[in-house]
Amino acid sequence: MNLPHALGRHLALAGFMGSGKSRAGASVAARIGRPFVDLDDEIEERAGTTITELFAERGEAGFRALEAEIAHDVLARGEPLVVALGGGAVLSERTRALLAARAFTILLDVEPETAWLRVAGSERPLARSEEDFHSLHRERQPVYEEVADATARDVDGILLAAAGVHVEPGAIDELGELVPGDGAVELVADAHVSGIHGIRAQVGLGARDAALHEVPAGEPAKAAAVLERLWSRFTIGRDGSVVALGGGSTTDVAGFAAATYMRGVEWSAVPTTLVGQVDAGIGGKTAIDLPGAKNVVGAFHWPVRVVCDPSVLTTLPEAERLNGLAEVVKTGLLAGMPLWERSELDQVRSCAAFKSGVCLGDPHDRGPRNQLNLGHTFAHALEAAAGYALPHGRAVALGLLAALRLSGLDDAVRTVQDVLSPEPVAVDAEAAWAALARDKKAERGSPRLVLLDAPGRPRWGVEVPEDDVRRALAELIA
Ligand SMILES: NC(=O)c1ccc[n+]([C@@H]2O[C@H](COP(=O)([O-])OP(=O)(O)OC[C@H]3O[C@@H](n4cnc5c(N)ncnc54)[C@H](O)[C@@H]3O)[C@@H](O)[C@H]2O)c1
Ligand SMILES: [Zn+2]
Repeated sequence: MNLPHALGRHLALAGFMGSGKSRAGASVAARIGRPFVDLDDEIEERAGTTITELFAERGEAGFRALEAEIAHDVLARGEPLVVALGGGAVLSERTRALLAARAFTILLDVEPETAWLRVAGSERPLARSEEDFHSLHRERQPVYEEVADATARDVDGILLAAAGVHVEPGAIDELGELVPGDGAVELVADAHVSGIHGIRAQVGLGARDAALHEVPAGEPAKAAAVLERLWSRFTIGRDGSVVALGGGSTTDVAGFAAATYMRGVEWSAVPTTLVGQVDAGIGGKTAIDLPGAKNVVGAFHWPVRVVCDPSVLTTLPEAERLNGLAEVVKTGLLAGMPLWERSELDQVRSCAAFKSGVCLGDPHDRGPRNQLNLGHTFAHALEAAAGYALPHGRAVALGLLAALRLSGLDDAVRTVQDVLSPEPVAVDAEAAWAALARDKKAERGSPRLVLLDAPGRPRWGVEVPEDDVRRALAELIA
């Protein structure tokens, strides 16, 4: 059975020579903060000689035996790694069994013609003739496909697959295949979204036994009474799962219902807002609100699948799209790439991949995941002062301005102004400051913020003098 994601287990990259496993593996490992092991390098290091020499000395069979031995040692390590497997490593039955038991394996797929161009003329013992190379590829491909839990073609694709995130226009029509398992489904849908995309989702679930539960549209879904209603109406057993269809509000409450019902059942998110697809649906944070306090009760519960179908965004009101665009700009600044200039599909794909990488590296928000709060300390203060009547995207746009001003990044400030056109908001300055201070008091001590040394180089937990924070906040208020 295919595993849903790589959380808590090794992430192994399989694929033909020339598919770029070493390079992509190193890059993915850096993104998710795990050690990287290139199996071929490990073999050369331990043997004290090159693979070419080992092939010459021991023959292919001798080399494969050594390779399997070393693969075993590497995969036996307790700490989750990123491992680039040699092209032939999966030929060993023992290695395949270990991968199945201990790793989430991704096939890094490549056109054989491209692979040949990369390796032709190299020292590799199995890349001497183009014809042999292609026939070996035909022979190996089915083995890779069998061993792989998922397939990817680039670093973002690997990060998405590793987090269990599937981005594809039209994916909502294939939900039955995308949601893991074959047990019964509790489909929790935003009442408004249900009227627009509910039938499509239900038809997409195909033969799966699914019960529909509508929750109030938007934020009012995140209430204890709604959660209690879901608990009492669910009938699935431990083999069933929850599927959430809606924006971040729906995925938050449905995910929390799944985290708590019967001490936790699997859930999948089908986010239908841009916020949901680039941010809220990913990373396993779930929560409900208490009167006057947002997200105060919740759980970390990683979804087994996140299905992002950009085609459902065509019905999204413009104001909701702008909320999402603010998170896209935030992500682009963190990633150091102008992601907001890309097509909507590419925005979703790259932002979802970025958040997947950060959250895989810090699922419980103890360090690097803090960076995702860029601009949000100010945004939350403005939202609270506005009695939550301020759209989140507008608050985030303003919050980004403050964080970038404090970072001394004038160009980035201009980008936010050009792309998001934030206007200062009329709220009570003292109330906003009180909210920010309250937020900070929860973290003990003076204000700590996420700032950027440069686009792509975030720093979190930065202590900023109170006066500077106060001044930055005041600039956001009309
Ligand atoms: N868990 C996380 O990591 C995380 C991250 C960010 C935000 N959030 C949470 O997400 C919530 C905000 O979610 P959101 O911005 O996605 O909006 P939302 O879920 O509150 O929905 C906003 C509105 O859009 C409508 N809508 C949704 N999809 C639609 C579609 N395809 N067509 C037409 N209308 C549609 C909804 O009915 C609703 O009226 C907040 O509660 C926030 O705290 C959670
Ligand atoms: Zn946000």
